[in-house]
Parts: sequence; C-alpha cells; structure tokens
Amino acid sequence: MDAPALQSKAQSAIAAAGSLDELETARVHYLGRKSELKLALREVRDRETGIALNTARVAIEGALEQREQELAAAAVVADTDFDVTLPGEAPPQGSLHPVTQIRRAVEDAFVGLGYEVRDDREVETVEYNFDKLAFPAWHHARSPRQTFFFDESRVLRTETSASQIHMMEEREPPIYMVSIGRVYRRDTIDATHFTIFHQFEGLAVDEGLTLADLKGTLLHVMRALYGAERRVRFRTHYFPFTEPSIEPDVSCPLCDGEGCRVCKHSGWLEMGGAGMVDPAVFENVGYDPERWSGFAFGMGLERTAQLRHAIPGLRPLWENDLRVLRQF
Ligand code: DAH
Repeated sequence: MDAPALQSKAQSAIAAAGSLDELETARVHYLGRKSELKLALREVRDRETGIALNTARVAIEGALEQREQELAAAAVVADTDFDVTLPGEAPPQGSLHPVTQIRRAVEDAFVGLGYEVRDDREVETVEYNFDKLAFPAWHHARSPRQTFFFDESRVLRTETSASQIHMMEEREPPIYMVSIGRVYRRDTIDATHFTIFHQFEGLAVDEGLTLADLKGTLLHVMRALYGAERRVRFRTHYFPFTEPSIEPDVSCPLCDGEGCRVCKHSGWLEMGGAGMVDPAVFENVGYDPERWSGFAFGMGLERTAQLRHAIPGLRPLWENDLRVLRQF
C-alpha cells in the first residue's frame, strides 16, 4: 500500500470538506475501523511498513483536527443569531466601604483648609494615650474595664488624640493636622456601640488662635460633610487635654433643625469633643504655653456615615453584609 499517496488523497479530501458532516464522512473513510489504512495497520509485519502507515495516520488525524477547528470558527461567525459585538458579562465591581468614603470626604475638607493628614499607631502607650494628654489619675478611661490593656504600659488606643502628642513632639508650630483612624473601647455592643470605631482628630497650633478659629473650622467641616445649610452650636464640657472644652453640635441634616427621630426632636446632633489645647499639654511636649495657642477636636466617622446615609444603627457598618454594602 502506498502510504504517502493515501495521505495526500486524505488531506485533499479533508481540506475540501465544507461542513462538519462532510468532514465526518472523510474521517470515516480514511480513519474508520474499516478504512484501508486501519486494515493495513492490522496486517503490519515489518517495522518499515509500520512506520510509514503510522506517519500517514498521524498526519491525517492532524489535518482532521485542524479542519474541524476552522469549520467551527467559521460556523460561529456565520451564525447570524450570535452577535460577536455584544459586551461580555460584566465582572462584579466593588465599591469603597461607606466609612472609607467618609474618611476621604473628611480628608478633602481638611486638605482644602491646608491641613496635613497623618496616620498613627493603634497600639499606643499609656504615656501617649493618657499621661501626656493630661488625663488625671482618676479618669475612668484609664480603667481596664473601659480600655483594652496589653500590659501596664500598652493599650489599644481609645482615641486618636495621642496623634496630637506625636505631632507636637516631632515638629515646631505652626501645626495644622488631622489624624484619622481606628480606636478601641470595651463598650458593650448594641445598635449604636461597637468595640472598634474610627475617629478624626484635628490639631491647630499657632500664635494667637482663639475659640473663634475653632468654631469657624468646625463650621466649615460640618458644612463640607452635611451640606452648606448646616449650623453649629457649642456646649461646655470637660476633656482632660483642652481648656475650655466644648462639645459641638450640628443642626440635624435630616430635618434641618425642625426636630425628628434621629435628633431626638432637639434639632441638633452631638458631633464629638473639642477645645483650646490645655497649657499643661503644651508643657508636656516642650512648647511654651505663653507663646503658642491651639485648638483640637475629635469626632467619630461611623456616626457621620450613619447620618449621611440614614443607616439605622452602627452595626451594619461592621457586619460586612454585601446586601448592605452594595448600596453605597
Ligand atoms: N478624644 C475625645 C474622645 O474620644 C474627643 C476629643 C475631645 C478630641 C476634645 C479632642 C478634643 O481633640 O479637643 O471622646
């Protein structure tokens, strides 16, 4: 049997097949169980003949496979029901967590005022978290019932205020900075409390700063976060590291101060703490309190996210339920 002649006959037949059916006919004819080639292979007695026949077989199989692919590709293009220009299935797209979105809005508001943004450690020392911020020995936050202690000298920071100390120890005034990050408290978890949350902490130190500067700064930030119509008011309070200390309220963005469920019908929302930097804190970082004055403020990010999106309670922000997070 003339193997090369058979091979070239088969190859032309395969190349001429215009459909998958015709190709199948050629396959049966040249490689089927009763084909000339298969019968000859069964009768092989010597090595040379075996090699020649198998070479033809492999070549014919390859030609079949190649032609099959060509015909299949042509069929896809020819099928008018299938529009190859249609877009594919869109991969699922993520979005930023609402707290991250607020964090960025806060950063934008302060960068617009010329503040620098900084990040500090979450494992803090008692010295920086409390002592240098002039917390008195009796302060309840120093209790292990309220704060996560690693040992006597290290805690998970309970507030971002320690950033004030780090910043002032690193640099001379003027300082305009905002520090944003996670803080930890041993709160019992309920609708509005979680053991982890985020705060932003601001600090300005310069010559001649007054409470009026603090008030103007907070008004700007509240309007950036809650809309141009917002008003702020201040109530006196106590914090260890500011004197005087105040608690800023913003007019309720949901009812515009009319009174609603969210603001408990007062028209105002409590936003955190603020005040003029206590001279004792300046002394703790080696600044001359006669020369420098400053103000500081600290507020929670979750609360801001909650108000902005009218989310009932804080827990949805921590549960990572995609049905919730996909809405932002
Ligand atoms: N650290 C305070 C808290 O977590 C908030 C605060 C109050 C920050 C007054 C300040 C401030 O910078 O001046 O409750």
